[in-house]
Amino acid sequence: MTGASRGIGLGVAHRLVAEGAKVTITARKRPALEAAVEELGGPDHALAVDGSADDAGHQLDTVRRTLETFGRVDVLVNNSGINPAYGPMLDLDSGAARKILEVNLLAVLDWVRLVHRHWMAENGGAVVNVASLAGVRPARGIGFYGSSKAALMHLTSQLALELGPKVRVNAVAPAVVRTRFAAMLYEGREAAVTEDYPLGRLGEPADVAAAAAFLASADAAWVTGQTLILDGGLSLGAGVLPPRPAPQAAVRSPRCRGRNAVSPRPRPGLQGRARGRPSAGG
Ligand SMILES: NC(=O)c1ccc[n+]([C@@H]2O[C@H](COP(=O)([O-])OP(=O)(O)OC[C@H]3O[C@@H](n4cnc5c(N)ncnc54)[C@H](OP(=O)(O)O)[C@@H]3O)[C@@H](O)[C@H]2O)c1
Repeated sequence: MTGASRGIGLGVAHRLVAEGAKVTITARKRPALEAAVEELGGPDHALAVDGSADDAGHQLDTVRRTLETFGRVDVLVNNSGINPAYGPMLDLDSGAARKILEVNLLAVLDWVRLVHRHWMAENGGAVVNVASLAGVRPARGIGFYGSSKAALMHLTSQLALELGPKVRVNAVAPAVVRTRFAAMLYEGREAAVTEDYPLGRLGEPADVAAAAAFLASADAAWVTGQTLILDGGLSLGAGVLPPRPAPQAAVRSPRCRGRNAVSPRPRPGLQGRARGRPSAGG
């Protein structure tokens, strides 16, 4: 599991360990990896290998040490992903763009190739790639990151086509999940950001972990080449519904002042873009 000393990757590691797996986790910084190994129950459950996901030597070292330590690699979770710059895509430095492609896309192909060669070609297995909703829909400020994730989703389906029947390859595409990586997208304005989510909250690493664990498991034995969107309903959009009334908006209708007075229906169009959502609970 790449990029798993914190955030979504560590969440997936917790979930897989709880289900009986032994995990190898990677990240660049050793101290956080060591703390994560302790959190996961120590060396009987987890092995840490430090390095950058796009470093060929680190990739080979990780696969070798996993096979030496645990004897098999049934599941590969390509979780590490970077977005070193925010802003309009035309302003993105091309060196940064290349690095995004190297970590978010090319490294995934390298990891799959290695794990396939050393274990899965003969023994089978499952790959889960962590994409993003930004790869499904354009998003301001993170355009090239989203482009890399769109390519990752295509890579996922292409690999699924080529590696079946022994190996399944799927992806998850989360919207905003509360981790350090996404903090600038919601910190200090979480209530406002959350308003657009029909399920009323941002994602947690455990939400992604549950989906990744499913895709990695035998329960998903007939699922390959898919990207599962995990977004609390965000991509449903506002639709044509009128805005949802604010909780305190219950006032008497000027046209109905009797005992059966009800709240007035909000009028669409008053706030520019309709922000109404299908209500999940009131
Ligand atoms: N959070 C969200 O809202 C969200 C939404 C959609 C998709 N995603 C995707 O989810 C994945 C994980 O994101 P996160 O939110 O969990 O981030 P996070 O909390 O910042 O954690 C990132 C993890 O990856 C490691 N890492 C960073 N760069 C790496 C590299 N080059 N090589 C190896 N490991 C590296 C980090 O440790 P070191 O710094 O020590 O390397 C850390 O363990 C990413 O692919 C991201 O694109 C996140």
